[in-house]
Amino acid sequence: MIAKETVDKILETARIEEVVGDFVNLKRRGTSLIGNCPFHNEKTPSFNVSVNKGIFKCFGCGEGGDSASFIMKHEKYSYPEALRYLAKKYNIEIEEIEQSPEQQEADNRRESLYIVSAYAAKFFSETMWETDQGKTIGLGYFKERGFRDDIIKKFELGYSPDSWDALTDKALREGFKEEFLEKTGLTIRNDKGKLYDRFRGRVMFPIHNFTGRIIGFGGRTLVTDKKVPKYVNSPESDIYHKSNVLYGLFQAKKAIRDLDNCYLVEGYADVLSVQQAGIENVVASSGTSLTTEQIRLIGRFAKNVTILYDGDAAGIKASLRGLDMILEEGLNVKVVLFPDGHDPDSYVQKLGSSEFKTYIEKNQRDFILYKTNILLKDAGTDPIKKAGVIHEVVESIAKIPDSIKASVFIRECSSLLQIEERVLIAELNRLRLGKMKKDGGKSESLPPPDAYPDDLPPPDEVLFAEEKYTETDDLQEKEIIRLLLNYGHELVKWDGITDTYIAPYVISNLADVVFDNPVCKIVLEEYNAYMEKGELPTAQDFIQHKDPQVSEMAISLISSPYSLSDNWLATRKIYVKHESENMRATILGGIFHLKKRKVDKILKSIREEIQNETDEDNQLILMQRYMRVKEVEKGISAFMGSVVIK
Ligand code: GTP
Ligand code: MN
Repeated sequence: MIAKETVDKILETARIEEVVGDFVNLKRRGTSLIGNCPFHNEKTPSFNVSVNKGIFKCFGCGEGGDSASFIMKHEKYSYPEALRYLAKKYNIEIEEIEQSPEQQEADNRRESLYIVSAYAAKFFSETMWETDQGKTIGLGYFKERGFRDDIIKKFELGYSPDSWDALTDKALREGFKEEFLEKTGLTIRNDKGKLYDRFRGRVMFPIHNFTGRIIGFGGRTLVTDKKVPKYVNSPESDIYHKSNVLYGLFQAKKAIRDLDNCYLVEGYADVLSVQQAGIENVVASSGTSLTTEQIRLIGRFAKNVTILYDGDAAGIKASLRGLDMILEEGLNVKVVLFPDGHDPDSYVQKLGSSEFKTYIEKNQRDFILYKTNILLKDAGTDPIKKAGVIHEVVESIAKIPDSIKASVFIRECSSLLQIEERVLIAELNRLRLGKMKKDGGKSESLPPPDAYPDDLPPPDEVLFAEEKYTETDDLQEKEIIRLLLNYGHELVKWDGITDTYIAPYVISNLADVVFDNPVCKIVLEEYNAYMEKGELPTAQDFIQHKDPQVSEMAISLISSPYSLSDNWLATRKIYVKHESENMRATILGGIFHLKKRKVDKILKSIREEIQNETDEDNQLILMQRYMRVKEVEKGISAFMGSVVIK
């Protein structure tokens, strides 16, 4: 048992933001840190970390606690396991005090599975590096495939001897219990009660959880007999759940976060070869089809996924649908194809590191556009098939939670499919409405202001006033706060679908927008906190706020009768006597205005990229991108107009 003094020391040393930060991407917001909760599925961050208090709290699902309980919940560790994990992280030496065998057993059942797995990995590795059979057959095999020692060691690869019970026998002799050998699947009991090894004469790939502990194995055969399965894998156990493990994530997670991109490959060998080429942000789904848990696991580290496919067309088509799941989680998906007969492993070994990187850069395609092209080719000139293509493509686009991104795709696909944009938009609306009805009255199903009206005027006819460029979005942010304070409690009807309070509507629509003004941020945060409790704050709450900056702002915003930001109503020559007369327009206007500013910033950054780009082809690509985003921006303005006119 861990001594009390050690426990105290561990808990004093552990910093909540560092402990949580290893698993959750945290951003500073006001006085706390915020991120997407790892304990439930969410797109709007409601997971808060208070550095001062040393605790975390999710306002979405209610989970909360300190560093140790975070690790317990996240890694499904017992309390002592969590403490050991933290001690290791902070290099704290653990002082043990005596524990009865019964206590130890009760405490450490899961720990035992980890220990026996680590033991097996060591056994496989020693067999490979130190025995004759291991060296010639196991190590020989890896060498022949071109793997360097450092990679073999980094992934703790090994070899299971060609014998019925080498591991089981040795482990039992050294005091490991049958029970744990069986529970991890390393040992199998036959009908007659005889124990034998699951892995025999195979090269071994240990599978790590993402704190680096070994939880299972994949074993590859070295014979080419069709009757022998190429891979044998550990079965599910208390520590190994296939659906939420990605092979290589432990070794890749830092690079994935640093680069904000994750390469996804199919096989163990692909991970090794790509890593060996110095491309460290790579993981494998390992044969099983990708699960939502796996995607969320990636999503905690990066917003971009690039799928590196084998060049086998049938396989690709089969997997197209599965990829919609990635879009649904809000990630950007690209695909890279390799020449026929090549997989990432063989291709990187052929090209070498830098040419491989160039190949990826040049050949990565956006998933939706790629899918559109493939389906289109398939459909040929058959009009019915083509209608099916349209449906399938829009179905993918409808999965994208970010509406600005979705509208860029609508435009791009409209030109690929040679279908008028409005047809695609109508289809998109149909799908979204269907989903909304299915979801019932949940907050996420509120009519998005960005659902496209079918009767959007063609972009070119929209008069569009270029806004003066200012560094910050201060005014627009304050405008949102002003609307919240003044009208947050009012009910508004959105095209007869539902009556909703304005505050939750506004806030849910700003989920993807990061506020810059610190005082506005505080107010927004407090709205969120109240809403999580099912309440709405009143203007009074802010007027009497303990933070003088907040109360000052609240007072000035509440007393100001007019829109603060550029009066977009006026630039469009639309006048209403009072903004509350056209509440819907006012609210959507406030939201869209801020969003438009964000798009404007994207445009500005593309302009800068174009200026800095010397390669003519790349310039052309950027120009096209610019035009498309520009169209989106026009769409937003047009929508603002159409909302007001109604
Ligand atoms: P190499 O042939 O050594 O290059 O293997 P690989 O790791 O590249 O695997 P491959 O591309 O053939 O398959 C992709 C993944 O599917 C593998 O890494 C395994 O996780 C899984 N897989 C392949 N074959 C089998 C099998 O026979 N049984 C099981 N359970 N999984 C398999
Ligand atoms: Mn392979």
